[in-house]
Amino acid sequence: MDYFEYRNGELYAENVPVADIAAKVGTPLYVYSRRTLQEHYEKIARAFAPLDPMICYSVKSNSNTALLKVLADLGAGFDIVSGGELFRVIRAGGDAGTCFYAGVGKTDAEIRFAIERGIYMFNVESEAEFETIDRLAAEMGRSPRCALRINPDIDPNTHHYTSTGKKESKFGVDVVRGEEFFRRYRNARAAKLVGIHLHIGSPIPTAQPYVEAIGKALSLIDRLKAGGIPVEVLNIGGGYAAWYESAQSVMIEDYAEAIVPLLKDRPLKIVMEPGRFISGNSGILVAEVQYTKTGGDRKFVIVNSGMHHLIRPPLYGSWHFVWPVTPGEEMTPPDRSRQVSLAGLVTCDVVGPICESGDFLGQDRQLPPVSRGDLLAVFTAGAYGMVMASNYNSQPRPAEVLVEHDQFRVIRQRETYEDLVRGEG
Ligand SMILES: Cc1ncc(COP(=O)(O)O)c(C=O)c1O
Repeated sequence: MDYFEYRNGELYAENVPVADIAAKVGTPLYVYSRRTLQEHYEKIARAFAPLDPMICYSVKSNSNTALLKVLADLGAGFDIVSGGELFRVIRAGGDAGTCFYAGVGKTDAEIRFAIERGIYMFNVESEAEFETIDRLAAEMGRSPRCALRINPDIDPNTHHYTSTGKKESKFGVDVVRGEEFFRRYRNARAAKLVGIHLHIGSPIPTAQPYVEAIGKALSLIDRLKAGGIPVEVLNIGGGYAAWYESAQSVMIEDYAEAIVPLLKDRPLKIVMEPGRFISGNSGILVAEVQYTKTGGDRKFVIVNSGMHHLIRPPLYGSWHFVWPVTPGEEMTPPDRSRQVSLAGLVTCDVVGPICESGDFLGQDRQLPPVSRGDLLAVFTAGAYGMVMASNYNSQPRPAEVLVEHDQFRVIRQRETYEDLVRGEG
């Protein structure tokens, strides 16, 4: 699952006690494991090897340049959704020529920047966007490749905020319109329409929605081919689940077993855009208990982090395992389950300092008794954690640390009060 594990009653990141990192760097703090990041990239590459896919890590899930560098060095490409993400990839030493650029609202400046830097392909979401890319490319004397994002009208059974492939979503165009799109723009002035892109949502807990979406894309590709329009690239998107809890048994091999046979004999360049599968288990958030209190029948553990650092629980109803960093051997959890069978646990909500009732990291949790100064770890927080952090209530954002074997280094400094007001006034 990952390299955050309890040894002799205390949590380690690879071979470093998390409490030691917190003592040196302070809290709140994101801690990442390089080995977990690398192994997840390698696992997905291995599982889908029969397709020889381009694996383009989804930068939006965690865009710290130190992590991007690790992945670039491993040979990953990148899925980007803004000029800022392209800038980060380049800054990290990544190759713009491995980038797929998606997103419904690309500006002229972003499109020009991407063309100038020679990205691999635009994932185009509408007719108006394609025409804009074509016009700008013609002005620049360039011929960028494009894939059309098809919206296959499939319910991926995930939170409606992260379901992106249904008919009524803002992403892509439906299959019928997709066919017209290719006929209309096959001979565009400058931009080359050569691919199809799918991304139906995330996390998608089973392979079935992929199977259905890919089936629809392949039928479209066959119809286009019959009409003399070849499609060279099929990008099947991201959404492969991270391990948020132990009972969750979905493995990357389960997805591969269902998807690989559909594509193995097709003369298509296959692209994948995994984000959370690679970065999710690679990080934890470490927070420090400030106070405990009761309110009616509820018990609260109040920590120095919350929705401003990890917004997934209130935003998507996401569940992250939370446990003390140094619980002692008798309180070491057997796994990361919703129900932990240990004696003496206290049912409580783990909440932050923000002035919102929705500011929680976990609700109705059974935890060992904790007191002021104790550290709590929030697991599987490497994806959509720090990237969605804010300065709400003028709270500085946490530091980030990367652990490698028995060493660690700060890969993003903790923000200061000066950082909060930089550029103001
Ligand atoms: C187009 C696209 N590709 C890939 C991803 C990555 O999703 P995940 O991190 O769940 O793999 C997203 C996430 O929103 C996306 O919008």
